[in-house]
Amino acid sequence: MITAAVGTLLSAVFFNAKADEGMWLPSLISERIGDMQSKGFRLDAEDIYSINQASLKDAVVLFGRGCTGELISGEGLLLTNHHCGYAQIQKHSSVEHDYLKDGFWAMSRDEELPNEGLTVSFLDRMEDVTSAVLNGYEEGMTEAQRDSVVKANSAALIEKATAGGKGLDADVEALYYGNQYFLFVYRVYNDIRLVGAPPSSIGKFGGDTDNWMWPRHTGDFSIFRIYADKDNNPAEYSEDNVPYRPKRHFSISLGGVQEGDFTFVYGFPGSTREYIMSEGVRYISEISDPNKIALRTLRLEIQDRYMSQSQDVRIKYSSKNASVANSWKKWQGEMRGIRKMGTVGKKREYERKFREWAEGTAYDGLVARLDSLYRILEPYSYASDYYAETAWTVELGRFATGYSDLYAKAALSSSDTVAEKFLKEAERMAASFYKDYYLPIDKESFIAVMDMFDRNMPDGSKPEYFFRNMKRYGSVEVWADSLFGNSVFADSSVLYGTIAGQAPHDAWMTISSDPATEFGREFRKWYSEEIRPSAKRISDEINLTYRDYMRGQMEFEPERTFYPDANLTLRVAYGSVQGYSPADGTYYFPVSTIEGIMQKDNPEIFDYDVPERLREIYRTKDYGRWAVTGPDGRKTVPVCFIATNHTSGGNSGSPVINADGNLIGINFDRVWEGTMSDIVFDPDLCRNIALDIRYVLFIIDKVAGAGHLLDEMTFTE
Ligand code: ARG
Ligand code: GLU
Repeated sequence: MITAAVGTLLSAVFFNAKADEGMWLPSLISERIGDMQSKGFRLDAEDIYSINQASLKDAVVLFGRGCTGELISGEGLLLTNHHCGYAQIQKHSSVEHDYLKDGFWAMSRDEELPNEGLTVSFLDRMEDVTSAVLNGYEEGMTEAQRDSVVKANSAALIEKATAGGKGLDADVEALYYGNQYFLFVYRVYNDIRLVGAPPSSIGKFGGDTDNWMWPRHTGDFSIFRIYADKDNNPAEYSEDNVPYRPKRHFSISLGGVQEGDFTFVYGFPGSTREYIMSEGVRYISEISDPNKIALRTLRLEIQDRYMSQSQDVRIKYSSKNASVANSWKKWQGEMRGIRKMGTVGKKREYERKFREWAEGTAYDGLVARLDSLYRILEPYSYASDYYAETAWTVELGRFATGYSDLYAKAALSSSDTVAEKFLKEAERMAASFYKDYYLPIDKESFIAVMDMFDRNMPDGSKPEYFFRNMKRYGSVEVWADSLFGNSVFADSSVLYGTIAGQAPHDAWMTISSDPATEFGREFRKWYSEEIRPSAKRISDEINLTYRDYMRGQMEFEPERTFYPDANLTLRVAYGSVQGYSPADGTYYFPVSTIEGIMQKDNPEIFDYDVPERLREIYRTKDYGRWAVTGPDGRKTVPVCFIATNHTSGGNSGSPVINADGNLIGINFDRVWEGTMSDIVFDPDLCRNIALDIRYVLFIIDKVAGAGHLLDEMTFTE
């Protein structure tokens, strides 16, 4: 934590306090391995990451575009969270086959369900390419010139890295605001099939009520299988594909966890901003988070009301609702945590010391410059937040615009086959849109958020289109009546009926003047012409200044160990199983059990309605080999645990690993009091939440009756 370094106390306190902060690059883990071993880890750096032999990294994947997963069998079996597989489970669900509600278990390989568009990526290797990326860059170049050097060199590196291998993909990522560059080479598999998911009453037990909270009892896991061609290479879905044979899969520890045990989390954290200055933190915690929370509160109330009235609507909006609610709740914890820690004030104090130190150096004036850039950026950030949480959330507008764009592309394409491709894409887009659309929710949300837009956006920054319509209709309500009442997109059969038989160009003309299309398009135009360019220009300036400020901080605090901010690249976080005290007089133990599930059980409350099968197992204490002795000496089943690992969004589904490199849990969340860790880490409060692997096995074996899957796995004590 930057602020702890302030003053003369750069001492033992500072070091201890920082013990578990950090998300480390696996290829540089030799720099941390001594510390890891001193805390109990019994393996070596080469066991974590190696380019010469199979290592744990070969058993970890980026799941989709924002989760992590891990291999748990020699036949491509993969574990991730229920909420990471949620969209897939939902896509296979209908009122007749409600896999969200009832769970899904493939009892044989041919029952495993393919998922179009889902990928998993294995990291092949990573490499510091800073000098190659900056080759040709000279002191005194403008940022734009530097950018084009970086882009050209990166493109060349990527091309070289991906030549001649099936499914190879690569990225060059900037670390420390472009003080360092790394090449990441991935192998991407795209035939990924759903093998199993518990019912939501287990996989999402506690729902959004318990989300981001401890004590927790969510069985948040789902199981997939990676398929490959007969040579074990990535291949499009085909019946001829066979289960992928990984270089390495995890052994599963049945030994359990105790307070104080060493743990490490290996996964893909998405984004953190640990080194930003006070103004950035102030904007997030005092303006952005509160605004976004207020806007989402409105939408959530509307969704919740309709979802509680109909199972059909509940299925349609479950995935959308979960993602709206998830950030909504996280921001509340984040803003509270930042305030509680006094991070803005502490950073200001740090910056004051930095400025003193920087006088007369190359870093002179940086803080003042950042400060003034943030002030220039603020109205644009404000407008961007408002756009993202208002007009952009109107489902009909976004769909109509996207659909019409595809028709435009089809109409303007030079060949019929190209046009056909776009029309097919439009068809798919429409099918998936209408499957999960419920107009009354969208219309009420439109009224709620556009009303806030009207009241809270300064008049000078509103789009002309907005004024025109407010003048024409007199109120957001009447505008909504007209838009949702007249749009052909409001009903799929009206849309299809309207464009049936029309040539792409005519169809495009028809739908592009539709009020929903117009709404989406006009707001997008406003945002992309009047807001984004300035926001981007100023943000680029800020990032550029951060590049120097980052180096400055490193020189200012030479004793401190820095780690790069998360950017959805593979990282290692390590710590230990620890409880915490969220408030005076309260202490949370680090382990939860099935007792807690039964204490929460309440058939009246959707989030806490325990499935009958689990109740019965509990009643008869039929735990089989999964029984452990609980803290009170009685037989029980472990469910979740918390630890001090520094994780972030994207770490969902990450393996939680013990001192011997074996799997003990699946990461799925953080505690609410610690969600500010994307910006500032408090070792007293920041905890990751993991699902105990033994609960996963218990559910598969005892509840799902899919014990055959256990035969593929490797166990150890
Ligand atoms: N908070 C966890 C994460 O950020 C879990 C989210 C899914 N669960 C939910 N109830 N919305 O992804
Ligand atoms: N649930 C989060 C995810 O999907 C992980 C929790 C976090 O943000 O730490 O990545």
